Amino acid sequence: MQAQLHVSKHFRIGEVSPLIFGGFLEHMGRSVYEGIYDPDSPLADSRGLRTDVLAALKELELTTVRYPGGNFTSGYHWEDGVGPREKRPTVRDLAWHSLETNQFGTDEFIELCRELECEPMLAVNLGTGTPEEARNWVEYCNSPVGTKYADIRAANGHEEPFDVKYWCLGNEMDGPWQIGHVPAEHYAVRAQQAAKMMKDTDRSIHTVACGSSSPAMPTYLEWDRTVLEHVGAMADYVSLHRYVGNSHDDTPNFLAVSNSIDKQIMAVDACCRYVAERHRLAKRHYLCFDEWNVWYKARTPEHMNGRGKFAPPLVEEVYNLEDALVVAGFLMSFIRHADVVKIANLAQLVNVIGPILTRKDAMLKQSTFYAFKMISTRKGGVSLRANTTSPTYSSHTRGEASYLDQAVTLDGDKINLFLTNRSRERLDISVWTDVELTGVISAEILTGDDPKMVNDYDSPDVVVTQPFDGVSVNGTSASFSLPPLAFSAITLSVGD
Ligand code: AHR
Repeated sequence: MQAQLHVSKHFRIGEVSPLIFGGFLEHMGRSVYEGIYDPDSPLADSRGLRTDVLAALKELELTTVRYPGGNFTSGYHWEDGVGPREKRPTVRDLAWHSLETNQFGTDEFIELCRELECEPMLAVNLGTGTPEEARNWVEYCNSPVGTKYADIRAANGHEEPFDVKYWCLGNEMDGPWQIGHVPAEHYAVRAQQAAKMMKDTDRSIHTVACGSSSPAMPTYLEWDRTVLEHVGAMADYVSLHRYVGNSHDDTPNFLAVSNSIDKQIMAVDACCRYVAERHRLAKRHYLCFDEWNVWYKARTPEHMNGRGKFAPPLVEEVYNLEDALVVAGFLMSFIRHADVVKIANLAQLVNVIGPILTRKDAMLKQSTFYAFKMISTRKGGVSLRANTTSPTYSSHTRGEASYLDQAVTLDGDKINLFLTNRSRERLDISVWTDVELTGVISAEILTGDDPKMVNDYDSPDVVVTQPFDGVSVNGTSASFSLPPLAFSAITLSVGD
């Protein structure tokens, strides 16, 4: 099969926001405890952070991490997680029916973000928490010493403010599973009150209102419209969440999922545009895709019940090759919509639906780790609208899908091509541009014979990034051949 990609430096969608390469860390299962923070591990540093996990997370070049949940946040009281560790209470977490010892809290999370060189993003409790509690957290994090909560931070060893810029106004408040779930009008009042007090405490923060937790929700888009109309300029972003899977073992349909991610982005964007125009807002809301991933194999109620234990193993999804191709598909969709998707967070990072799994003395990088890294290490630049001519197929539920999925960015004197061959046959690709291509800077591929192949502790290198030979450039065009079921990331140099 053959496909062509037509790329022009003049057809610019928008700057690719670096913040779309974010992650998410929730107090859930073995994500924080035993995942990233494990003082008992031989691999922990003096702060209790796993050095091997830190090194792997650094490889992902994350730009932001959302914390502490998720559903967990809707019952979380941040004051439980600060101050001397021996005085912090152990509490019941009703979201995941687990025990929370609060040994890792705000200060430790900020320390982690500093180590990873990324922006912290905190989600306040709008389930059982009050707008005032949320405001107090902003003061704790961001105010100079001299007032109550800032002074508590200083007493805890941090004289200088943490300067947390991004704040989520609760989590998935449209879902009946959420602690404190309420109808849209009710949530909107809470969110508006909280955001006002939070912004009154620190004018520089950016807030994210809870949008729909999935396109499958009965209140999808109506929820978003109602919330945005009420919260107005008190929110800067609206959240989108999406978990996808291949429950029917239909790989072509699964790989076509980016069609529906594109649709979700366009629908929520339309809602934001509607609200901005209808209410003559001076500025529009942008999209914060603050939870996204593949998640379906470890998703029964059993997988989500901690049975009153501390750090129980929950939703430890094992990722295969086709899952990695879908992870690449999400990121390519965000790049194609660079004008509106400004933040995105892979949910989650370690053990809980994570690209990284841990045991006490070992760590494993899953297939999805590699897909994410291949794109995040090529962040930056502007997204270009590329025109694809490719054979297509009819997917069962996601319409007509192109065998070639793509995103293209122009970053100074480099062009990045992100390309997936969704077919079970080889795909010969020609790229036609209006710039002089002077060489191949790097080319990588993630592929294999079987969509179900996985990495495990005994065979950790089954689905890994490999060098991709065979990219040739000739004047303003490039050509290469992608094997079946493959994702490639190619960086070409561009002449004057
Ligand atoms: O990421 C796991 C859970 O999925 C989050 O806590 C919740 O927001 C979503 O439903």
